[in-house]
Amino acid sequence: MKILLATEKPFAAQAVLEIKEIVADAGYDFVVLEKYTGKAQLLAAVKDVDGIIIRSDIIDEEVMAAAPQLKIVIRAGAGYDNVSLDAATQRGICVMNTPGQNANAVAELALGLMVFAIRNFYDGSSGTELLGKRLGIHAYGNVGRNVARIAKGFGMEVYAYDAFCPAEVIEKDGVKPLSSAEELYSACQYVSLHIPATAETKNSINLALLERLPSKAMLINTARKEVINEAELEKFLEIRPDFKYLTDITPGNDAVLKEKFPKRYFSTPKKMGAQTAEANINAGLAAARQMASFFQSGDERFRVNGKG
Ligand code: 3PG
Repeated sequence: MKILLATEKPFAAQAVLEIKEIVADAGYDFVVLEKYTGKAQLLAAVKDVDGIIIRSDIIDEEVMAAAPQLKIVIRAGAGYDNVSLDAATQRGICVMNTPGQNANAVAELALGLMVFAIRNFYDGSSGTELLGKRLGIHAYGNVGRNVARIAKGFGMEVYAYDAFCPAEVIEKDGVKPLSSAEELYSACQYVSLHIPATAETKNSINLALLERLPSKAMLINTARKEVINEAELEKFLEIRPDFKYLTDITPGNDAVLKEKFPKRYFSTPKKMGAQTAEANINAGLAAARQMASFFQSGDERFRVNGKG
Protein backbone atom coordinates (compact mmCIF):
# COMPACT_ATOMS: atom_id res chain seq x y z
CA MET A 1 0.00 0.00 0.00
CA LYS A 2 1.36 3.43 -0.94
CA ILE A 3 0.21 6.77 0.45
CA LEU A 4 1.08 10.10 -1.16
CA LEU A 5 1.13 13.44 0.62
CA ALA A 6 0.64 15.96 -2.20
CA THR A 7 0.81 19.55 -1.00
CA GLU A 8 1.63 22.38 -3.39
CA LYS A 9 1.64 24.55 -0.24
CA PRO A 10 3.72 22.41 2.16
CA PHE A 11 2.82 21.53 5.72
CA ALA A 12 5.22 22.43 8.55
CA ALA A 13 8.12 19.92 8.66
CA GLN A 14 6.98 18.55 12.04
CA ALA A 15 3.53 17.73 10.62
CA VAL A 16 5.10 15.82 7.71
CA LEU A 17 7.32 13.84 10.10
CA GLU A 18 4.37 12.86 12.28
CA ILE A 19 2.17 11.95 9.28
CA LYS A 20 5.01 9.74 8.04
CA GLU A 21 5.17 7.99 11.42
CA ILE A 22 1.44 7.18 11.42
CA VAL A 23 1.57 5.87 7.85
CA ALA A 24 4.72 3.81 8.56
CA ASP A 25 3.20 2.38 11.78
CA ALA A 26 0.23 1.24 9.71
CA GLY A 27 2.72 -0.58 7.46
CA TYR A 28 2.34 1.54 4.31
CA ASP A 29 4.89 3.24 2.07
CA PHE A 30 4.88 7.03 2.22
CA VAL A 31 5.87 9.51 -0.48
CA VAL A 32 5.80 13.28 -0.41
CA LEU A 33 5.27 15.69 -3.30
CA GLU A 34 5.62 19.27 -2.06
CA LYS A 35 5.79 22.66 -3.81
CA TYR A 36 5.09 21.12 -7.19
CA THR A 37 4.87 23.62 -10.00
CA GLY A 38 2.77 21.83 -12.59
CA LYS A 39 0.01 19.24 -12.89
CA ALA A 40 2.36 16.87 -14.75
CA GLN A 41 4.30 16.31 -11.50
CA LEU A 42 1.11 15.42 -9.67
CA LEU A 43 -0.05 13.11 -12.47
CA ALA A 44 3.28 11.27 -12.34
CA ALA A 45 3.25 11.01 -8.54
CA VAL A 46 -0.23 9.44 -8.30
CA LYS A 47 0.30 6.59 -10.79
CA ASP A 48 0.84 3.83 -8.20
CA VAL A 49 -0.72 5.21 -5.01
CA ASP A 50 -3.65 3.80 -3.02
CA GLY A 51 -4.37 6.92 -0.97
CA ILE A 52 -3.63 10.65 -1.25
CA ILE A 53 -3.57 13.33 1.43
CA ILE A 54 -3.96 16.85 0.04
CA ARG A 55 -4.70 20.47 1.00
CA SER A 56 -6.20 22.78 -1.66
CA ASP A 57 -4.59 20.64 -4.36
CA ILE A 58 -6.89 19.97 -7.32
CA ILE A 59 -7.92 16.34 -7.63
CA ASP A 60 -10.02 16.15 -10.77
CA GLU A 61 -11.04 13.45 -13.20
CA GLU A 62 -7.64 13.58 -14.96
CA VAL A 63 -5.74 13.01 -11.72
CA MET A 64 -8.05 10.14 -10.77
CA ALA A 65 -7.64 8.58 -14.22
CA ALA A 66 -3.86 8.71 -13.75
CA ALA A 67 -4.19 6.81 -10.44
CA PRO A 68 -5.74 3.40 -11.23
CA GLN A 69 -5.11 2.06 -7.71
CA LEU A 70 -6.53 5.09 -5.90
CA LYS A 71 -9.12 4.25 -3.23
CA ILE A 72 -9.20 7.32 -1.02
CA VAL A 73 -8.45 11.06 -1.12
CA ILE A 74 -8.30 12.90 2.19
CA ARG A 75 -8.44 16.67 2.16
CA ALA A 76 -6.46 17.70 5.27
CA GLY A 77 -8.69 20.67 5.95
CA ALA A 78 -12.32 21.73 5.73
CA GLY A 79 -13.31 22.75 2.19
CA TYR A 80 -13.34 20.03 -0.47
CA ASP A 81 -14.39 22.07 -3.49
CA ASN A 82 -10.97 21.19 -4.98
CA VAL A 83 -11.95 17.53 -5.41
CA SER A 84 -14.32 16.34 -8.16
CA LEU A 85 -16.73 14.44 -5.95
CA ASP A 86 -18.89 12.95 -8.72
CA ALA A 87 -15.86 11.62 -10.57
CA ALA A 88 -14.61 10.07 -7.32
CA THR A 89 -17.98 8.44 -6.66
CA GLN A 90 -18.09 7.02 -10.19
CA ARG A 91 -14.65 5.52 -9.72
CA GLY A 92 -15.46 4.11 -6.26
CA ILE A 93 -13.00 6.49 -4.59
CA CYS A 94 -13.80 7.69 -1.08
CA VAL A 95 -13.26 11.40 -0.36
CA MET A 96 -12.94 12.72 3.19
CA ASN A 97 -12.09 15.98 4.90
CA THR A 98 -10.86 16.63 8.45
CA PRO A 99 -13.48 19.05 9.78
CA GLY A 100 -12.53 21.51 12.51
CA GLN A 101 -8.83 20.65 12.62
CA ASN A 102 -7.58 23.96 11.23
CA ALA A 103 -10.52 26.11 12.33
CA ASN A 104 -8.80 28.04 15.12
CA ALA A 105 -5.93 29.06 12.84
CA VAL A 106 -8.33 30.46 10.23
CA ALA A 107 -10.39 32.23 12.90
CA GLU A 108 -7.30 33.87 14.43
CA LEU A 109 -6.32 35.16 10.99
CA ALA A 110 -9.83 36.60 10.45
CA LEU A 111 -9.57 38.62 13.67
CA GLY A 112 -5.96 39.53 12.85
CA LEU A 113 -7.06 40.97 9.51
CA MET A 114 -9.76 42.97 11.28
CA VAL A 115 -7.27 44.52 13.69
CA PHE A 116 -4.87 45.24 10.81
CA ALA A 117 -7.64 47.07 8.95
CA ILE A 118 -9.00 49.14 11.85
CA ARG A 119 -5.44 50.29 12.63
CA ASN A 120 -5.17 51.49 9.03
CA PHE A 121 -2.76 48.77 7.92
CA TYR A 122 -0.30 49.90 10.63
CA ASP A 123 0.51 53.10 8.75
CA GLY A 124 0.99 55.13 11.95
CA SER A 125 -2.33 57.02 11.78
CA SER A 126 -5.05 56.89 14.43
CA GLY A 127 -7.38 53.91 14.08
CA THR A 128 -10.48 52.50 15.80
CA GLU A 129 -11.26 49.55 18.12
CA LEU A 130 -13.32 46.37 17.92
CA LEU A 131 -14.76 46.71 21.44
CA GLY A 132 -18.53 47.17 21.32
CA LYS A 133 -18.75 46.83 17.53
CA ARG A 134 -21.12 44.43 15.79
CA LEU A 135 -19.65 41.42 14.04
CA GLY A 136 -21.71 39.29 11.67
CA ILE A 137 -20.54 35.75 11.10
CA HIS A 138 -21.74 34.46 7.74
CA ALA A 139 -22.00 30.67 8.23
CA TYR A 140 -21.62 29.20 11.68
CA GLY A 141 -19.45 26.13 11.16
CA ASN A 142 -16.20 25.26 12.88
CA VAL A 143 -14.40 28.44 11.78
CA GLY A 144 -17.43 30.66 12.47
CA ARG A 145 -17.71 29.28 16.01
CA ASN A 146 -14.04 30.01 16.70
CA VAL A 147 -14.39 33.51 15.27
CA ALA A 148 -17.32 34.07 17.67
CA ARG A 149 -15.27 32.87 20.66
CA ILE A 150 -12.33 35.15 19.88
CA ALA A 151 -14.51 38.14 18.92
CA LYS A 152 -16.31 37.94 22.27
CA GLY A 153 -12.87 38.24 23.91
CA PHE A 154 -12.49 41.54 22.05
CA GLY A 155 -15.86 42.63 23.50
CA MET A 156 -17.66 42.58 20.15
CA GLU A 157 -21.41 42.06 19.85
CA VAL A 158 -21.61 38.87 17.79
CA TYR A 159 -24.36 37.90 15.32
CA ALA A 160 -24.52 34.93 12.97
CA TYR A 161 -26.51 33.67 10.02
CA ASP A 162 -26.30 30.07 8.89
CA ALA A 163 -28.92 28.47 6.65
CA PHE A 164 -28.12 25.02 8.07
CA CYS A 165 -27.34 25.64 11.74
CA PRO A 166 -30.29 25.73 14.18
CA ALA A 167 -30.77 29.07 15.99
CA GLU A 168 -30.55 27.31 19.42
CA VAL A 169 -27.02 26.11 18.63
CA ILE A 170 -25.92 29.66 17.81
CA GLU A 171 -27.71 31.12 20.84
CA LYS A 172 -26.03 28.64 23.20
CA ASP A 173 -22.69 30.30 22.34
CA GLY A 174 -24.01 33.72 23.37
CA VAL A 175 -24.28 34.71 19.68
CA LYS A 176 -27.45 36.29 18.23
CA PRO A 177 -28.87 34.23 15.35
CA LEU A 178 -30.32 36.17 12.41
CA SER A 179 -32.64 34.70 9.83
CA SER A 180 -31.06 35.78 6.55
CA ALA A 181 -27.83 37.03 5.01
CA GLU A 182 -29.66 40.27 4.20
CA GLU A 183 -30.45 40.79 7.89
CA LEU A 184 -26.85 40.03 8.87
CA TYR A 185 -25.34 42.50 6.39
CA SER A 186 -27.85 45.20 7.42
CA ALA A 187 -27.11 44.76 11.12
CA CYS A 188 -23.32 44.40 11.23
CA GLN A 189 -20.50 46.83 10.54
CA TYR A 190 -18.03 43.92 10.37
CA VAL A 191 -18.80 40.72 8.47
CA SER A 192 -16.61 37.61 8.47
CA LEU A 193 -17.28 35.14 5.65
CA HIS A 194 -17.22 31.39 6.26
CA ILE A 195 -19.46 29.93 3.56
CA PRO A 196 -18.15 27.11 1.39
CA ALA A 197 -17.92 27.46 -2.40
CA THR A 198 -20.94 25.59 -3.77
CA ALA A 199 -23.21 26.04 -6.79
CA GLU A 200 -25.56 28.05 -4.54
CA THR A 201 -22.94 30.29 -2.88
CA LYS A 202 -20.74 31.12 -5.90
CA ASN A 203 -20.97 34.88 -6.68
CA SER A 204 -23.54 35.23 -3.89
CA ILE A 205 -21.73 38.11 -2.16
CA ASN A 206 -22.97 40.72 -4.60
CA LEU A 207 -23.71 44.42 -4.75
CA ALA A 208 -27.28 44.07 -3.47
CA LEU A 209 -26.01 42.37 -0.32
CA LEU A 210 -23.00 44.65 0.19
CA GLU A 211 -25.17 47.76 -0.16
CA ARG A 212 -26.93 46.76 3.05
CA LEU A 213 -23.77 47.21 5.12
CA PRO A 214 -23.80 50.13 7.57
CA SER A 215 -21.26 52.93 7.31
CA LYS A 216 -17.56 52.23 7.93
CA ALA A 217 -18.15 48.58 7.15
CA MET A 218 -15.59 45.86 6.57
CA LEU A 219 -15.81 42.44 4.91
CA ILE A 220 -13.25 39.79 5.84
CA ASN A 221 -12.97 36.77 3.55
CA THR A 222 -11.08 33.76 4.86
CA ALA A 223 -13.48 31.41 3.04
CA ARG A 224 -13.29 31.14 -0.75
CA LYS A 225 -12.63 33.43 -3.73
CA GLU A 226 -15.56 32.07 -5.73
CA VAL A 227 -18.26 33.24 -3.32
CA ILE A 228 -17.53 36.87 -4.16
CA ASN A 229 -18.96 38.61 -7.21
CA GLU A 230 -15.65 40.33 -7.92
CA ALA A 231 -16.91 42.92 -10.41
CA GLU A 232 -19.66 44.00 -7.99
CA LEU A 233 -17.24 44.09 -5.06
CA GLU A 234 -15.04 46.45 -7.08
CA LYS A 235 -18.09 48.61 -7.83
CA PHE A 236 -19.01 48.69 -4.14
CA LEU A 237 -15.47 49.76 -3.19
CA GLU A 238 -15.89 52.59 -5.71
CA ILE A 239 -19.24 53.85 -4.45
CA ARG A 240 -18.56 53.36 -0.74
CA PRO A 241 -15.28 55.05 0.24
CA ASP A 242 -15.87 54.04 3.87
CA PHE A 243 -15.76 50.29 3.08
CA LYS A 244 -12.76 47.97 3.47
CA TYR A 245 -12.25 44.47 2.04
CA LEU A 246 -9.61 42.13 3.39
CA THR A 247 -9.16 38.68 1.97
CA ASP A 248 -7.04 35.59 2.45
CA ILE A 249 -7.82 34.44 -1.08
CA THR A 250 -6.41 36.55 -3.89
CA PRO A 251 -9.24 37.73 -6.17
CA GLY A 252 -9.02 37.76 -9.96
CA ASN A 253 -9.01 41.59 -9.93
CA ASP A 254 -6.29 41.84 -7.24
CA ALA A 255 -4.00 44.17 -9.24
CA VAL A 256 -6.85 46.59 -10.00
CA LEU A 257 -8.09 46.62 -6.40
CA LYS A 258 -4.55 47.17 -5.09
CA GLU A 259 -4.02 50.09 -7.38
CA LYS A 260 -7.42 51.71 -6.90
CA PHE A 261 -7.95 51.14 -3.17
CA PRO A 262 -4.54 50.82 -1.48
CA LYS A 263 -5.85 51.97 1.92
CA ARG A 264 -9.03 49.88 1.88
CA TYR A 265 -8.07 46.62 0.22
CA PHE A 266 -5.64 43.93 1.32
CA SER A 267 -4.99 40.38 0.16
CA THR A 268 -2.53 37.94 1.70
CA PRO A 269 0.09 36.81 -0.85
CA LYS A 270 -0.95 33.16 -0.44
CA LYS A 271 -3.86 31.60 1.47
CA MET A 272 -2.51 31.78 5.03
CA GLY A 273 -5.53 30.92 7.21
CA ALA A 274 -4.56 27.32 7.94
CA GLN A 275 -0.84 27.97 7.58
CA THR A 276 0.28 27.41 11.19
CA ALA A 277 2.31 24.55 12.67
CA GLU A 278 -0.62 23.68 14.95
CA ALA A 279 -3.20 23.56 12.15
CA ASN A 280 -0.83 21.58 9.91
CA ILE A 281 -0.25 19.05 12.68
CA ASN A 282 -3.94 18.82 13.63
CA ALA A 283 -5.23 18.45 10.08
CA GLY A 284 -2.32 16.38 8.74
CA LEU A 285 -2.37 13.87 11.58
CA ALA A 286 -6.15 13.58 11.49
CA ALA A 287 -5.88 12.81 7.77
CA ALA A 288 -3.19 10.18 8.36
CA ARG A 289 -5.23 8.52 11.14
CA GLN A 290 -8.39 8.56 9.00
CA MET A 291 -6.40 6.98 6.17
CA ALA A 292 -5.10 4.16 8.40
CA SER A 293 -8.53 3.57 9.88
CA PHE A 294 -10.13 3.44 6.40
CA PHE A 295 -7.72 0.77 5.20
CA GLN A 296 -7.69 -1.17 8.49
CA SER A 297 -11.41 -1.25 9.28
CA GLY A 298 -13.29 0.42 6.42
CA ASP A 299 -14.04 3.45 8.60
CA GLU A 300 -15.71 6.08 6.39
CA ARG A 301 -16.89 8.45 9.13
CA PHE A 302 -15.67 11.60 7.43
CA ARG A 303 -16.72 10.65 3.90
CA VAL A 304 -18.10 13.63 1.94
CA ASN A 305 -18.99 12.03 -1.41
CA GLY A 306 -21.75 9.60 -2.33
CA LYS A 307 -21.10 5.91 -2.69
CA GLY A 308 -22.68 5.62 -6.15
C1 3PG B 1 -9.67 24.71 4.38
O1 3PG B 1 -10.62 24.57 3.61
O2 3PG B 1 -9.37 23.84 5.21
C2 3PG B 1 -8.89 26.00 4.38
O3 3PG B 1 -9.31 26.83 3.34
C3 3PG B 1 -7.39 25.81 4.35
O4 3PG B 1 -6.89 25.45 3.10
P1 3PG B 1 -5.35 25.08 2.88
O5 3PG B 1 -5.08 23.77 3.52
O6 3PG B 1 -5.15 25.07 1.40
O7 3PG B 1 -4.51 26.17 3.52
